[in-house]
Amino acid sequence: MNVLVLGSGGREHAFAWKLAQSPKLENLFIAPGNAGTAQVGTNIEIGVNDFDAIKDFVLSNDIKIVVVGPEDPLVNGIHDYFLADDELKNIGVIGPKRDGAELEGSKEFSKIFMEKHGVPTAKYQSFTKTNLEDGYTFLETLSPPYVLKADGLAAGKGVLILEDLEEAKTELSNMIESGKFGDASATVVIEEFLHGIELSVFVLTDGESYKILPSAKDYKRIGEGDKGLNTGGMGAISPVPFADSAYLQKVEDLVVKPTIAGLKADGIDYKGFIFIGLMNDNGNPSVVEYNVRMGDPETEVVIPRIKSDLLDLFEGVANQTLHEKTFEVDERIATTVMLVSGGYPEGYEKGKVMTGFNTIENSIPFHAGTKKDGENIVTSGGRVLALTSFGAEIKEALDYSFANAEKIHFDKKYYRSDIGFDLV
Ligand code: AMP
Ligand code: GLY
Repeated sequence: MNVLVLGSGGREHAFAWKLAQSPKLENLFIAPGNAGTAQVGTNIEIGVNDFDAIKDFVLSNDIKIVVVGPEDPLVNGIHDYFLADDELKNIGVIGPKRDGAELEGSKEFSKIFMEKHGVPTAKYQSFTKTNLEDGYTFLETLSPPYVLKADGLAAGKGVLILEDLEEAKTELSNMIESGKFGDASATVVIEEFLHGIELSVFVLTDGESYKILPSAKDYKRIGEGDKGLNTGGMGAISPVPFADSAYLQKVEDLVVKPTIAGLKADGIDYKGFIFIGLMNDNGNPSVVEYNVRMGDPETEVVIPRIKSDLLDLFEGVANQTLHEKTFEVDERIATTVMLVSGGYPEGYEKGKVMTGFNTIENSIPFHAGTKKDGENIVTSGGRVLALTSFGAEIKEALDYSFANAEKIHFDKKYYRSDIGFDLV
């Protein structure tokens, strides 16, 4: 079977790496991919939102399954585009249609969905230009910190957490009236702050049945000790020690089941991943957000722990036979440490030559922002390379990731040397 993966990050390299191991795979293509995906498949120069070019490629290369990495093409309706086209409608798309993608594309939609289907989440209200004054009044009823969320996609930057009431009011006005996040913040969700430890749970569903994938925790801040600016993620660990089987059973019963049932009840035929961001509040899960894709760098620890054939699972999603598929997980712990370009998540330079790949031992290097430049591999993004390792204990796996982080060289390399500090 021929498969096309859309995207160019560490997540997509992890998908491609795993798909390449499938006996069912014939040819693997990645659009646009990176220097890592080029080692396990063929990169093609097509953007993830160029649906017409994707169509031509899919038809001329007999692609049977398209795996959509990032949320953007999903929110833009790539799955709907396939279903509306007679030549494409029988090709499997891993990722929801536009209706399901609203779970990530609109915070207000996801809050209404959770409330309707009894999924535990923080109390909230949403506001626009017409009821901005009510927003100020609602903030006064809450205690700090205040959580303000742009309704739409804002490249992961649309959530503000503020200690001061006056500052929260000012930011609310900046978001709604001054378009701080453009159209994305024309509507703002204000919600209660949840205390506790965060955990990400990943579900793969064909709309009827589901598999719960390994859970993970990521480290979002740029600085050690979880200080400084938010990033896409600086490292991840799977599984998470506090998420034992009793806790995960609660997550399945209170969150996963009502989510899958709610999608069905609302007539949303959902095929793909659901990434559930949870806060563990004294042993009780509360949903912070849904994403309609896998996380990055969480994928770089979740996918390597899946022992089953990923292409077989994707086939199950596409044909709605997921319930027939076996699903086995590696008991070992996986960790990943992300090497980034100095300056990230603010300004940084690209095009730095990378060396040391042939000295890596006991880690899998998943490429994120890399590309080929003649004979060299050079940096081409903020997040550059995720080093994933296994261990019987967290520390053993981390030791391999950190040792290899020292063996890869490029100008202004930075990584957090404290990934997992709160778990070991
Ligand atoms: P989101 O984009 O909704 O995931 O929010 C980004 C981050 O903000 C989350 O990963 C949490 O760390 C934090 N966050 C969001 N909502 C809340 C909340 N209600 N209480 C506490 N932290 C939150
Ligand atoms: N690592 C967080 C995300 O992918 O959204």
